[in-house]
Order: sequence, then C-alpha cells, then structure tokens
Amino acid sequence: MPLMTWTEKLSVGVGVLDEDHKRLVAMVNDLYEAMQAGHAKDSLGRILDELVKYTQVHFAREEKFFEQTGYPAAAPHKQEHDTLTRQVLDVQQKYMAGATATLSIDVLRFLKNWLLNHIQVNDQKYRAHLNAKGIH
Ligand code: FEO
Repeated sequence: MPLMTWTEKLSVGVGVLDEDHKRLVAMVNDLYEAMQAGHAKDSLGRILDELVKYTQVHFAREEKFFEQTGYPAAAPHKQEHDTLTRQVLDVQQKYMAGATATLSIDVLRFLKNWLLNHIQVNDQKYRAHLNAKGIH
C-alpha cells in the first residue's frame, strides 16, 4: 500500500502543477517502497536525489508563474519553498553522510507531511489568482 495518495482534494486547479505534485507523491511512494523492500543505500540515495531535484524543478515552475502574473503572496511562498528545500537537502545530506544508516519511517513520514501540508495550505492559496490570470 502506498504511503500517500494524490486525490482531487490536492488539486491546485492548474494542470501542469497538479502533474508535478502527482510525480512528487509518486517519488515519496517509490522511496517508501524501496525502503520497505530493503534496497541498498545507493538505490535509495538515487531516488532521494531525484526527489530533491524534481522538488527544485517544481518550485521554480510555480515561482515563474508567480513572477509572470504578479502573485501578491509570492515572497512568503518562495520563503516556504526555500525552507522546504533546505529541509529536504538536510535529510539527503545526513543520509548520504551516513548519519542515518537507513531511511527510517519517520523520515518518510516527515517527507509525506512536508509535501501534503505545503500543497494543502500554501499551494491552495494561488489557485484563484492563477485561474483568474487564465492559467489552469
Ligand atoms: Fe507545489 Fe509551492 O509547491
């Protein structure tokens, strides 16, 4: 059973951003499944690396929309992105440096909540603005 599921409740009303969120959810699930299956550190490290990279791609995509449309809450949203990026990089660095021998379920739960909270709270706030600017 996957750790998390994307549902319409998570939709932010913009197709390309929903697709990004679905992909991020899938990556957290891949990491969870690989961890449960006892995959080697290299393999988990690669998935974690993809998650970090795609998170950055996604945040940049949202921020570009904010810039293009003059989103009034762009600055605090970007700050939240920067904080989340630091947190996930910290998880990755600790894991790769060997401070954490295995990815624990706590780390996976942290990543799940990190993603869900941000989509449900912060990302939902730009929906009306972007839709009003013709971005769906
Ligand atoms: Fe979908 Fe603000 O990240």
